[in-house]
Amino acid sequence: MSLTDPNQPLTTSTGTSLTDAARDHLWGHFTRHSVYEPVEAGGKGAEVPVIVRGSGHHIWDAAGNRYIDGLSGLFTVQVGHGRTELAQAAAKQAEQLAFFPLWSYAHPAAIELAERLAGYTPADLNRVFFTSGGGEAVEAAWKLAKQYFKLTGKPEKTKVISRSIAYHGTPHGALSITGIPDIKEVFEPLVPGAFKVPNTCFYRAPEELADDEYAFGQWAANQIAELIEAEGPDTVAALFLEPVQNSGGCFPPPPGYFQRVREICDQYDVLLVSDETICAFGRIGSMFACNDFDYVPDIITCAKGLSSGYSPIGAMIASERLFEPFRHGTTAFAHGYTFGGHPVSAAVALANLDLMEAEGLNQRVKELGPSFKAHLETLLDIPIVGDVRGAGYFYGIELVKDKATRETFNEEESEKLLRGFLSKALYEAGLYCRADDRGDPVIQLAPPLTIGEEEFAEITAILRKVLTEAAELL
Ligand SMILES: Cc1ncc(COP(=O)(O)O)c(C=O)c1O
Repeated sequence: MSLTDPNQPLTTSTGTSLTDAARDHLWGHFTRHSVYEPVEAGGKGAEVPVIVRGSGHHIWDAAGNRYIDGLSGLFTVQVGHGRTELAQAAAKQAEQLAFFPLWSYAHPAAIELAERLAGYTPADLNRVFFTSGGGEAVEAAWKLAKQYFKLTGKPEKTKVISRSIAYHGTPHGALSITGIPDIKEVFEPLVPGAFKVPNTCFYRAPEELADDEYAFGQWAANQIAELIEAEGPDTVAALFLEPVQNSGGCFPPPPGYFQRVREICDQYDVLLVSDETICAFGRIGSMFACNDFDYVPDIITCAKGLSSGYSPIGAMIASERLFEPFRHGTTAFAHGYTFGGHPVSAAVALANLDLMEAEGLNQRVKELGPSFKAHLETLLDIPIVGDVRGAGYFYGIELVKDKATRETFNEEESEKLLRGFLSKALYEAGLYCRADDRGDPVIQLAPPLTIGEEEFAEITAILRKVLTEAAELL
């Protein structure tokens, strides 16, 4: 396959076109394959979009079309595409030691990375358990919480709490923690003991709290206390929260929310897990977003931006208190992954963190994030744009049928608007981002942290054109 010669057809080694081979052999994740099935077979006959190259904040498809990567792939490519420093770090590590597990052994890249991460975490979150991704980190956190309480004389503490519509991954435990009914039902029965509380979507706050964000935050946090009381404090092990909840469309924490949550967790001895799979590594403006919102969790889970996606890696980072029982006797955390802390991924992560620091990307996000938001807020004059929310380089635009009443679209309208029109139209207009209907319909944006004013304007202009057309269609 050649990416440089436009006359060369893009085929697999057997001569099949990439899109045909993708349609016939590749099983997409969370993908409706009927879209790509031939019309004769009852499908929609669309071509699988094949992305062949990336450079900076741009990606190119197999036909040579260029797009702005408005989602960093999947909230992942913090430093942008095509960074040779990261490719070279991978090659160097693969030559030196391509693979070795962390099962009773260690290797320099994982050791170095663990120490580096411990330096970024608040307080004494010093113990790093590597995974291959975010869902595995969440899974590991629930298992650690259970084993920790068994070891410390509170064996009944096994339940977990998380927020409605939140996404925490797809392994069975993580999926139980996930709060999106549509992606859970087909896999039931899931792991029992996972309960949900309201999320912090202020735009949809109960009427009596709609004018007071602080009061709304206190109410939302107090729902957690009420649930712990109802379930029995002796049975609840952990609470999983993202600093800014992605699914549903970027719900930042109301002021005072995490401070009240921390009090509640301390009161009931419930472990606070900050699921930073998306929010860590500069997405909000710090290496760990709990620092952005000034709270200290007991566990951080992270992945994605840790290596900017150049090689898969995730981590669960626990406090000294949680590691303490594992220092003694025959006790071990009975959990592990072959590829957790993979040497190549760890080396890439270190090089990625070096780049982030050398280029001051966290500072950049802190300085320019408000301007990105201000650009997006100019879209609020479009009849279907109800709300723009988020923080740093992470925003959600909620679409509504009626701005005055905040009435949302029904399922059929949402299907027509998001899947039938917006996803395709935005892509065709040159912006790769996500139109998501796991909660109320939203457009999600999380571009590489390298972009600035020019790209904010470009992204906003594409959104204005396409959202205006969408509004006229209705
Ligand atoms: C908050 C959160 N947790 C967990 C996950 C799962 O991560 P992964 O897909 O790496 O398993 C995601 C993925 O987007 C996420 O956003």
